[in-house]
Amino acid sequence: MNKVVLVTGAGKRIGKEIAKVFINDQWNVIIHCNNSFEEASSLSKEFNNIREGSSCVIQANLDKEKDVARLIKEASDAYGRIDALINNASSFYATPIAKMSYEDWDKLIGSNLKGPLFLTRGLAGLLKDNEGSVINITDINIDKGMSGYSIYSAAKGGLKAVTKVLARELAPKVRVNAIAPGAILEPPDKEWSEKELISITNKIPLNRLGNEIDIANAVKFVIDSKYITGQTINVDGGRSLL
Ligand SMILES: NC(=O)c1ccc[n+]([C@@H]2O[C@H](COP(=O)([O-])OP(=O)(O)OC[C@H]3O[C@@H](n4cnc5c(N)ncnc54)[C@H](OP(=O)(O)O)[C@@H]3O)[C@@H](O)[C@H]2O)c1
Repeated sequence: MNKVVLVTGAGKRIGKEIAKVFINDQWNVIIHCNNSFEEASSLSKEFNNIREGSSCVIQANLDKEKDVARLIKEASDAYGRIDALINNASSFYATPIAKMSYEDWDKLIGSNLKGPLFLTRGLAGLLKDNEGSVINITDINIDKGMSGYSIYSAAKGGLKAVTKVLARELAPKVRVNAIAPGAILEPPDKEWSEKELISITNKIPLNRLGNEIDIANAVKFVIDSKYITGQTINVDGGRSLL
């Protein structure tokens, strides 16, 4: 029987590449999306053309309790098993201290911390049944004190802490780890200038940006490494060394 993974925010960018790694390894993939339903459906179609019945799409806003509950139910019912949960979905924007609002708090915490935590709670039973694994996608920058990003950093920092807590709470049946990307893709709403790109790559010992496949390969490596739990693995070309 094929294993099943739920990848959140998998309609495009890094999440999409993570989904592809699993499909190529003969897993069935539940593609979660929020606004990118069209992209997610087209990816799912592509997967189903490769292997019939290998994929489905579930839309849910992770900020909303009701949506998270429905996502848990629909993901559990889709194939009747869950072997891995990849908490990849994330909202990302600056909230300078003078301008931040309670609404920003709800949005950034919702998608980056509250949603992933309650999703994990809801799927923990099925994950236990299959000795499954959770991967939380965090960010190397949370350890650097990213000026202007206090709420996002609190959310991702919280997710890193939760990774360690749940690694203990859900052991020995379920492993929980985090992958912390460095500079991989420009934020969806921003294009880096040539000057910014040079300045960013100069701070990376491997002297290049990462790409989606670098993250997807690391996710799959941790899923397959059965003696790793509670860890955050930086996938950043050495950026966190400086
Ligand atoms: N890009 C980088 O260089 C970088 C660096 C460090 C860390 N990371 C982390 O790596 C992961 C993937 O990065 P990315 O750049 O590919 O992410 P992204 O494009 O910014 O976001 C991924 C997806 O998250 C979903 N999402 C956002 N808010 C949501 C909500 N309230 N409910 C449900 N889904 C929501 C969106 O889905 P829809 O489009 O369907 O709405 C979006 O497509 C993220 O966790 C990010 O923080 C990325």
